Amino acid sequence: MSSIRIFSKKKKPIVMVTAYDYVSAKTASEAGINALLVGDSLGMVYAGDKNTIKVSLEQMILHSRYVRNGAPDAFIITDMPFLTYKITPSRAILNAGKMITEGNADAVKVEGGTEICRTVKKLIQADIPVMGHLGLTPQGILKFGKYRKVGKGMDERKYLLRSALDLAAAGVFSIVLESIPEEIGTEITRSINIPTIGIGAGRHTDGQILVWNDVLGFYDRLRPRFSKQYKDLWSDAVKGLAEYKKEIEEGKFPSEKNI
Ligand code: KIV
Repeated sequence: MSSIRIFSKKKKPIVMVTAYDYVSAKTASEAGINALLVGDSLGMVYAGDKNTIKVSLEQMILHSRYVRNGAPDAFIITDMPFLTYKITPSRAILNAGKMITEGNADAVKVEGGTEICRTVKKLIQADIPVMGHLGLTPQGILKFGKYRKVGKGMDERKYLLRSALDLAAAGVFSIVLESIPEEIGTEITRSINIPTIGIGAGRHTDGQILVWNDVLGFYDRLRPRFSKQYKDLWSDAVKGLAEYKKEIEEGKFPSEKNI
């Protein structure tokens, strides 16, 4: 049974992957992955949208339930989608509460820095564990216009470091650092007493996370430079389905064994 206690600054790295349904959750949990994130990246890799903006609270709750079905003992963090936590803290508490009570999640993740700390504190006061997310924050796509590495200029560096300190002081149990220069990932990791989980943040964060589909080669559109593909499920799926079609056309399936 996994719990929030795995998020400690130990020597052993914390290994995370995203999950969106029963299959992704069960395979991750059988592989011994430490914790699962029901990422709003499901809008892209699962629903085929071009960004994460259209993902709804209801979708996240539903997928969170599917992930819980596949990984009953895992520590599951569910992303709060666009505009479900930045309007008012009380609305954020109600929405996050649904992730926990209806979606069966253990914690929620929110994107943003110093500017969202008031809401983060309120969520934690309501006994909802919160994970932060800094650097490339995909819900900001309409504001930024493209997905890019964050933290190259001095202002962005200062914002990232200040925000990490403020989020830690607000009480988050961990922070995801996405697509930032390695030296900033290292500096933030050394400056706060909660674990950092990197995705494109270099080698020195306390843990790493990747999108399930990127690890297994099961998405056709985006191959982020910072991810590594360990399998090619896409090619296997296409080959398998083509073989199925051919066997039916050739009268080989169903055979006697399948009756
Ligand atoms: O939605 C997601 O998959 C994420 C990860 C990239 C950290 O937030």
